[in-house]
Amino acid sequence: MEYQTNEEGFIPRHIGIVLDGNGRWAQARGLPRSAGHKVGIQKIHQITEDCIDLGVQVLTLYVFSTENWSRPRDEVNYLMFLAEDYAIHELSELQRNNVRLQLMGRRDGLPVEVLNALDKAISATQTNTSLILNLALNYGGRAEIVDAFKAILTEHAQDIQNDVNVNVDESLIAHYLYCPNCPDIDLLIRPGGEWRLSNFMLWRTTHAVFWSTPVLWPDFRREHLQEAIKIYSKQRMDQNDDS
Ligand code: IPE
Ligand code: MG
Repeated sequence: MEYQTNEEGFIPRHIGIVLDGNGRWAQARGLPRSAGHKVGIQKIHQITEDCIDLGVQVLTLYVFSTENWSRPRDEVNYLMFLAEDYAIHELSELQRNNVRLQLMGRRDGLPVEVLNALDKAISATQTNTSLILNLALNYGGRAEIVDAFKAILTEHAQDIQNDVNVNVDESLIAHYLYCPNCPDIDLLIRPGGEWRLSNFMLWRTTHAVFWSTPVLWPDFRREHLQEAIKIYSKQRMDQNDDS
């Protein structure tokens, strides 16, 4: 994947967003937290189109973490319902926008209805080329690395048994991450005002520019995305070392 540029500078190839602030957005309006989650999921449509317009090639949205299972059961169930509903009802729009949907996270633990709906949308969109949209669902950055190591051990079991040297290097590990066809994250955006990584994409954020904004995710708009891209582009142009 090549970097795109526009008149303002560099466009990140891969943007990650930690969706945060749904609950506060709802509470500020006297609504239940679920109302914030609903609007939060609806927002995915617009941000996807904005990313395509701006020349971003991969968008990874942190929708539900391995830690989020500890939330109240009703909230977890509702978030799972929203993920399923998204995959079912957004499919025609994903096709229209030529978006390839992928699941990033552990399948184990996700309800079968959610997996079925996602699998259907993932397979229907697998040849689409305008944008890869990763839904990080039941995702944990450490879990991803643990799963990569497990897969390496399984696939190289014979070699290990026979004392054949397995050349473990960065490219081997990257090959076993959840999205081996994705480049590293260039720009990591966190709405909701916190400055934490929250176990998101530990391997792929090594060189990412991190941008946090107090804007809550349901209020996040194209202008905020453009502001973040501007900061990314400036940092990239100013960068005078190799970090
Ligand atoms: C993010 O919004 C949504 C998920 C993690 C699923 P929050 O639910 O964390 O909203 P706040 O942080 O309580 O406002
Ligand atoms: Mg939160």
